[in-house]
Amino acid sequence: MHRVDIHSHILPGVDDGAASIEETLAMLQGAKQAGFEAVIATPHLKRIDADINRIREAYQSAKPLFAAQGLDLYLGFECHYRLLLDWQPAALRPFCLGGGNVLLLEFPWNGLPLQWERSINELQKVGLEIVIAHPERYAPVQADQSIAVRMVQIGCELQLSAGSLTGGLFSKERVCALGLLKAGLIHYLASDAHGAADYPAYAWVNTKYGHLISGGALLNTFGDQV
Ligand SMILES: [Fe+2]
Repeated sequence: MHRVDIHSHILPGVDDGAASIEETLAMLQGAKQAGFEAVIATPHLKRIDADINRIREAYQSAKPLFAAQGLDLYLGFECHYRLLLDWQPAALRPFCLGGGNVLLLEFPWNGLPLQWERSINELQKVGLEIVIAHPERYAPVQADQSIAVRMVQIGCELQLSAGSLTGGLFSKERVCALGLLKAGLIHYLASDAHGAADYPAYAWVNTKYGHLISGGALLNTFGDQV
């Protein structure tokens, strides 16, 4: 089994994740200790005018450092829904995880767009598979678990962020995350790490709740085109 962290802000200086190469290296060690064999770096992609080249350069520079430690590094993006306001669905393909056809999609946290189902359908029609980033952080899902059921029904996979389970005992995202896990709706547990402390937190969450993940954490078919 090839254990892959499918959501991590591990690249230095490209978003609100690792601030320096030193922090990236500390995260790399944490990822190894947490048992990952590969990490997909998923910087935020929220704006059409984002500096993609800078992200690709950061990835190319980091990749050999990971290889030297026996860890595969892939590039993907955490694509925000708002990109679809400017781009056609097919234009998101280059930003899929590891150069494949799986898109990590983030929605606004405070409210799903009215046409969210139709948008997912349009992405699927151009051949993209959708993994929804941290549904437990979206207010409508916190209020109504059936929205997550609907996401799975229309063919999406759901990715839980480990940090959602390390906050306050009764935080809305923690309560929601536990509900989704117990309902068997979560396909991937990812670190969504923004710093070195997030990997030990992931390891703790994985030990405690990893058995509730339904079939995820097995992604070994990535290309490496990006
Ligand atoms: Fe993220």
